Amino acid sequence: MPKAKTRFVCQNCGYEAPRWMGRCPGCEQWNTLVEEVEPRPQGRSTSLSRSGATGEPVAIAAVEAAAEPRLAAGLSEVDRVLGGGIVPGSLVLVGGDPGIGKSTLLLQISRHVAAVGGPVLYVSGEESVRQVRLRADRLGALDEHLYVMPETELEQVAAAIERLQPKLCVIDSIQTVYRSDVQSAPGSVGQVRECAAELMRLAKTLGVPIFIVGHVTKSGDLAGPRVLEHIVDTVLYLEGERHQSYRILRAAKNRFGSTNEIGVFLMEENGLVEVDNPSEAFLAERPTGAAGSVVVCSLEGTRPLLVEVQALVAATTFPAPRRMATGVDYNRLVLLLAVLEKRAGLNLSAHDAYVKVSGGARIDEPAGDLAVVTAVASSLRDAPVPERMVILGEVGLTGEVRAVSRLDERLGEAAKLGFTDFLVPAGNLRRSRTARERPPGLRIHAVSTVEQAIAIALSLNGRAAAAAGWQPD
Ligand code: TYD
Ligand code: MG
Repeated sequence: MPKAKTRFVCQNCGYEAPRWMGRCPGCEQWNTLVEEVEPRPQGRSTSLSRSGATGEPVAIAAVEAAAEPRLAAGLSEVDRVLGGGIVPGSLVLVGGDPGIGKSTLLLQISRHVAAVGGPVLYVSGEESVRQVRLRADRLGALDEHLYVMPETELEQVAAAIERLQPKLCVIDSIQTVYRSDVQSAPGSVGQVRECAAELMRLAKTLGVPIFIVGHVTKSGDLAGPRVLEHIVDTVLYLEGERHQSYRILRAAKNRFGSTNEIGVFLMEENGLVEVDNPSEAFLAERPTGAAGSVVVCSLEGTRPLLVEVQALVAATTFPAPRRMATGVDYNRLVLLLAVLEKRAGLNLSAHDAYVKVSGGARIDEPAGDLAVVTAVASSLRDAPVPERMVILGEVGLTGEVRAVSRLDERLGEAAKLGFTDFLVPAGNLRRSRTARERPPGLRIHAVSTVEQAIAIALSLNGRAAAAAGWQPD
């Protein structure tokens, strides 16, 4: 028998090297290469079974153009993030920190599909059948079409999928399943990649959508295998702070829809509950008249979302002032602080600055810049921004305020929740055609520099804004 060949695979990025190296050339991390035995070559029979699909090329014009019917997940927030429901034959990775609610979410989806669509196979390598049963009891997910399988060997799982022909299959989690013909440990890059490839093949040939759960490491990577992200069709992340009840589902990759949509849930006694009006929810605990709190309307996919940016600026006791960013990009924050220092004359080098987006939400787009900047200024000067004001704008390096996309949609959402004052980039008003259609009664303040924005936001304090006419609902 030929000697089994070994190779060294990076546990972080999947880079393969013929010999051991201290530093991975792929991702430049140290000590991430681990020895693995290559799968025994078995020709084409390495795939666990062969069924269906002929490999003939077809003329593109002959391909049926009608959209494939999608399967409803039973939670409209999930359907939206997926781009309109579950696509038959798709492989979806659901990532997230341990304990965030991935198993809960997938069991809820399984219940719905089992109730309306037919058999569902829930493969649980993480928990015993009894534990899954207890959870299903709690979630009211006992359905005769829901099958649980405490199996970790992929050959068995594949056989069960072929036998049962389920409408949906869940693998919880990819780190616990293994292929016996791959000689590395479950959870290693080699195993995870081979298992995912086999699941992909099963999904495609049988037309069964397969959801796989993957845990995320502290640094935010999917544990071990980033390679997984390249194999699957869709990558969803379930995020949130463990001790808060909001959970946000977002797509990081989606071959069947946009990646901007988010779904918002509350973790409650009986599982995840959809939040119909996330803006209202995110602003629910907002303090009144507090310095350092600013509301921004960010556009997540097709839906505008109001979130609160909070800043705390305090004299530092450290040799180098501390900066902390939660929900906004750290480097972006450092850059905005530099702009404030240089262009608006704020002395921040002797102050620590902490910036946080409340409710576990996140602002990814530049339109949130001006809100961060005014929140920092508001905290530094200890002067609140008017309670019913929304601040929007991208900030450039010279301190200029740049136009944002789809302003009217953002204003509309904010107006619905009773906001009356809007600090917006002057550039937007110049090019806006639809200004006349705006809801009446909105006070719009156009600004073109950071300095102007701060001056206006901090001079209209809470009481002044009240006097100028906002009414509590
Ligand atoms: P779980 O789905 O097991 O997380 P993951 O699969 O991502 O590791 O969720 C675990 C947490 O959710 C646990 O702390 C308990 C909580 N939980 C609820 O609050 N309500 C519920 O109905 C359920 C099932 C779980
Ligand atoms: Mg779990």
